[in-house]
Amino acid sequence: MAESMAGLKRSHRCTEVSDQMIGEKITVMGWVQKRRNLGSLIFVDLRDRSGLLQIIFDEETIGAEGFEKAGKLRNEFVIAVVGTVEARSGAVNKNLKTGNIEIKAEELRILSEAETPPIPIDDNVSVKDDVRLKYRYLDLRRPHIQKNLITRSKVAMITRNFLCDEGFLEIETPMLTKSTPEGARDYLVPSRVHPGEFYALPQSPQLFKQLLMCSGYDRYFQIVKCFRDEDLRADRQPEFTQIDMELSFVDVDDVIDVNERLLAKIFKEILDVEIELPIQRMTWQEAMDRFGSDKPDLRFGMELIDVTEVVRGCEFGVFQNAIEAGGTVRGLNVSGQGDLGRKKIDALVKFAKDFGAKGLAYIQLKSDGSMKSSFAKFMKEEEMTALIEAMGGKSGDLLLFAADQNKVVWDVLGNLRVEIAKNYDMIPEGQFKFVWVTEFPLLEWNEEENRYTAMHHPFTMPMEEDLQYIDSDPGRVRAKAYDIVLNGTELGGGSVRIFQNDIQEKMFECLGFTKEEAHERFGFLLDAFKYGVPPHAGLAYGLDRLVMWITGEESIRDVIAFPKVKDASCLMTEAPSPVDQLQLDELQIQIKEKTEE
Ligand code: AMO
Ligand code: AMP
Repeated sequence: MAESMAGLKRSHRCTEVSDQMIGEKITVMGWVQKRRNLGSLIFVDLRDRSGLLQIIFDEETIGAEGFEKAGKLRNEFVIAVVGTVEARSGAVNKNLKTGNIEIKAEELRILSEAETPPIPIDDNVSVKDDVRLKYRYLDLRRPHIQKNLITRSKVAMITRNFLCDEGFLEIETPMLTKSTPEGARDYLVPSRVHPGEFYALPQSPQLFKQLLMCSGYDRYFQIVKCFRDEDLRADRQPEFTQIDMELSFVDVDDVIDVNERLLAKIFKEILDVEIELPIQRMTWQEAMDRFGSDKPDLRFGMELIDVTEVVRGCEFGVFQNAIEAGGTVRGLNVSGQGDLGRKKIDALVKFAKDFGAKGLAYIQLKSDGSMKSSFAKFMKEEEMTALIEAMGGKSGDLLLFAADQNKVVWDVLGNLRVEIAKNYDMIPEGQFKFVWVTEFPLLEWNEEENRYTAMHHPFTMPMEEDLQYIDSDPGRVRAKAYDIVLNGTELGGGSVRIFQNDIQEKMFECLGFTKEEAHERFGFLLDAFKYGVPPHAGLAYGLDRLVMWITGEESIRDVIAFPKVKDASCLMTEAPSPVDQLQLDELQIQIKEKTEE
């Protein structure tokens, strides 16, 4: 039976009680983590979001009735205890912040009883993910998840304070809006008032923040939900949070400067980690050539080596064909793995094929001095020697090669590099390697749609020196875009924006929009540019990803209170779900019969 807390007021959270307070009378409230009966004494670990505190019920102090009540306590009962802080009567627990004290209870109230929870509230017990998420309200009680959400709140608070100090204004932008092109599908919301018409939930506040610059707010930020209907991954959710910002009268360096100082502050205050400023910068081209990725993980080496010139003219058809077709041959030297067994090599080949490789050629330089290679028979001895030398191969090394168009070679080797580093423990713990990747290509050729798409988004400014190629060779134009990368993940990205109507229209033209289409979708932005627009630039971080790195989590779900699962559903609320016919009728929506796939 639930008792009232009338007349009581919580005086402290569990771990706010310390040995400085011995002799003080306090009132604590929380959940029973554990109860132990020792005859005339009952011990209870009381838990709240701050941690654990030991309560001792002694019949002499609390009286027979209170003692009997304490005997009824079960895990997850919510209780209030009035008592006196004492030094621990038993052994001190060094693992607990309150390990050298306990509370001698004088009054106990059971505020709420609890059934046996379907999952233990214990960090040390592993529970299947789907069960955790079904009972997320219980899962959220686990200290480890609570710590993550507390850290998340701190990151947001530090960010707010920092940006406000730097002269930024926090301004909200609409959730019911028109499509913002960030490359994903939109979530649509049907309009009741305008049957057959839809709002789109924002993929980002991109257009609105640019309009705010047009309106003179000169430094804007927002910690904001964004919605993207795309395939979920460990670092992707359909709704996620951005730290979004935009600045007027600035260029690349200004945006980078303020953001480096923000990152340094967050990492210093939360982890006591010093980020060395300035953070290194690398052009996109360099990142691709050296790491096969526009989000290079700089915690380990194993860089890609271009051996196109070394193998040009050799007899091996795979290499020859790739080079003749305008591609390249590049390799990885997996130092110290020359003795890998057949199965492991086959697994690497399969991995490469999953990323679009037609195969993966290899040379094993075994530690006994022998050599095994998948293509030695096609090569002259001196060609092999030259290739091994170019790769810096020595006995005990494994050399892997991909031959194809650049894009495929980068993708295959870039992913293989990370996979091998993970599998063979090449990634040092506890390092934070930041890098700005700059000078991205403005456009990307989309094979399926047979047209260019914007690599960042259509509002990104081309580099002045490349504007001359925009008609003749659009693929060659680089953009004033930058990504901030940490340990191989893209934390955030942004760009200097186009603020001249003629360049913006040109950009739409490159993307295959007709003038009418562009005006239909973004007319308000183009119109706004007619009335005095400052040069502006901005950036957005994925807050979830940032917190994921700070807390050391493997999945974005562990830093989001109520995340969704792979198929974008919520196991707890069971959203999405069918709705009443009445609601559909109001919206004039008719559901088509499901067709068998
Ligand atoms: P962009 O699309 O690069 O840029 O997004 C910025 C950052 O948001 C995070 N992010 C995600 N996090 C979790 N789940 C997702 N599905 C997801 N999608 C993106 C990433 C990413 O770096 N308007 C521009 C920014 C700008 O130009 O100012 C934008 O949205 O960490
Ligand atoms: P094959 O002649 O097809 O048996 O291929 C010989 C070796 O080259 C095998 O190890 C293949 O995995 C490898 N290979 C095939 N295509 C490629 C490619 N595009 N890049 C690198 N290696 C390849």
